Amino acid sequence: MNHYHEANKRGWDATAEEWQKRVEKIWRKAYEDPEIVLSELELKYLGDVKGKKVCVLGSGDNLVVFALAGMGAKVTSVDISQKQLDIAAKRAKEIDANIEFVQADVVDLPFKDESFDIVYTGGHVAVWVSNLEKYYSEACRILKREGLFIVNEYHPFRRIWAEIPDRLEIEHNYFDRGPHQWERETPKGIIPAYEFHWTIEDYVMAMLKGGCELVALHEYGEDREDFEIANLECIPHYLLLVGLKNRE
Ligand SMILES: C[S@@+](CC[C@H](N)C(=O)[O-])C[C@H]1O[C@@H](n2cnc3c(N)ncnc32)[C@H](O)[C@@H]1O
Repeated sequence: MNHYHEANKRGWDATAEEWQKRVEKIWRKAYEDPEIVLSELELKYLGDVKGKKVCVLGSGDNLVVFALAGMGAKVTSVDISQKQLDIAAKRAKEIDANIEFVQADVVDLPFKDESFDIVYTGGHVAVWVSNLEKYYSEACRILKREGLFIVNEYHPFRRIWAEIPDRLEIEHNYFDRGPHQWERETPKGIIPAYEFHWTIEDYVMAMLKGGCELVALHEYGEDREDFEIANLECIPHYLLLVGLKNRE
């Protein structure tokens, strides 16, 4: 594991409890009603997942994992943070959901080629990963032929702004991928965090190079996230990419 991922893993392990606490009132609802977690567009492209093998990369709070499991998929939840997975696994046990939890770095997945019908990732995962091409090539490798690769990420245009409430001021050059280092306050002290600002071109090219053809791209959503200080409502919230693994 490279030192950026090693530090990010330590940060996520140290903050797992508070991160999972945010969703303690809704994770069960996610299992019962996937629409509270997955957008209309995501649901449209996912289709009927009943009985399908779905891998969620960078599963974090696992809301998407619970939603997909509730829809009848056989879900594998992958995260670099064992602590995040442990809390989610305990919750899965409470509702008797049959979910597999696997600790791994998304750039080096412990699965055989062509193991899954669908790979899903997103909701601020790529920003923690130092090599987007390797991450998406792993995602495509573990997909079966004609399997779907669904990426629903925070829109890159939202990452460039200064944290100022009353006007939009650019802080980061759109083309500066980083690493952007910041000090993360955690119950275990300050741990350096490393972020990577991928561009739309990076996402699309990583998917194509990984071996998936791009069948859809959407920029959508106008909500504001709790952590956003600048008023970003006029900028798309999500970038959704849908890839289809090449037939041959
Ligand atoms: C912001 S969460 C995104 C997932 C979900 N949308 C959420 O909000 O919880 C980021 C997750 O990605 C995981 N992560 C970061 N880097 C990773 C890597 N290299 N491999 C696998 N998971 C990683 C973190 O441990 C964390 O659980």
